[in-house]
Amino acid sequence: MTDPTTPGAGVPSARTLVIIPTYDERDNLPGVVERLLASSPDVAVLIADDNSPDGTGEVADRLAEDDARGRINVLHREGKQGLGAAYIAGFRWGLERGYTVLVEMDADGSHPPERLPAMLAAVDAGADLAIGSRYVPGGGVVNWPWRRHVISRGGNVYSRIMLGVGIKDITAGYRAYRSESLARLDLDAIESKGYCFQIDMTWRLLNNGGTVVEVPITFTERTVGQSKMSESIFREAAVNVARWGWEKRRRQLASLVRR
Ligand code: GDD
Ligand code: MN
Repeated sequence: MTDPTTPGAGVPSARTLVIIPTYDERDNLPGVVERLLASSPDVAVLIADDNSPDGTGEVADRLAEDDARGRINVLHREGKQGLGAAYIAGFRWGLERGYTVLVEMDADGSHPPERLPAMLAAVDAGADLAIGSRYVPGGGVVNWPWRRHVISRGGNVYSRIMLGVGIKDITAGYRAYRSESLARLDLDAIESKGYCFQIDMTWRLLNNGGTVVEVPITFTERTVGQSKMSESIFREAAVNVARWGWEKRRRQLASLVRR
């Protein structure tokens, strides 16, 4: 098998790896990477591309070749397998190479790279997971249609009630994980493919005794390309969250009866 990574082997001295999953983000990716490395020059980057039909994979290769410091790496995956699968492959890549913090960031510019230092500071201060949160004071969303606001707010309220956790933005996709804590989770067991992956990871981390801190960010909706949010992604989240909530209550009930 050929080495799926090109061309730099990452910066060994850098301890933070920023994983950027891409599917048809040719026009967005260069700007995001530039903003990221301008504000956090010492991080390493891993672009996880699912063989985008629009040629994002080649754009990523060029970015990697052009970076004199070899900070940019590309994981070429066979085809579209969802955001969750791309992140899990990226986490494995980062854990194998000893990065101590693993970051998730969208390629479409919605997640301000300039907020990364604040999130890394939260991990440094002890959090196992820092969430770039839209729904804590100081956070917000710019340019979303009302429909997305309703889905996102609704999804968070639904998850809070079903799972009984206090996190304000559990579906957020901008995150920094302490590698040690992430490595303790059974990544093989994660089946969530779409955005439900974010809730799934948080739920597993909390059940593992992990701590979560929310850092305010302003999420700005993309201006180029399209969101990959779909009805099946929405359904996956609704069904899984209900199941996790039910399993938790069943466990609680069982321990009450045993007493
Ligand atoms: N490799 C790969 N494979 N990347 C993907 C796939 C996939 O199947 N699907 C989406 N992506 C990439 C996109 O190219 C983008 O960089 C990132 O994942 C987020 O995708 P969007 O389609 O832009 O997501 P969104 O804006 O609708 O949703 C965002 O907000 C949600 C919460 O409201 C994301 O941050 C979600 O993770 C988050 O749950
Ligand atoms: Mn987006």
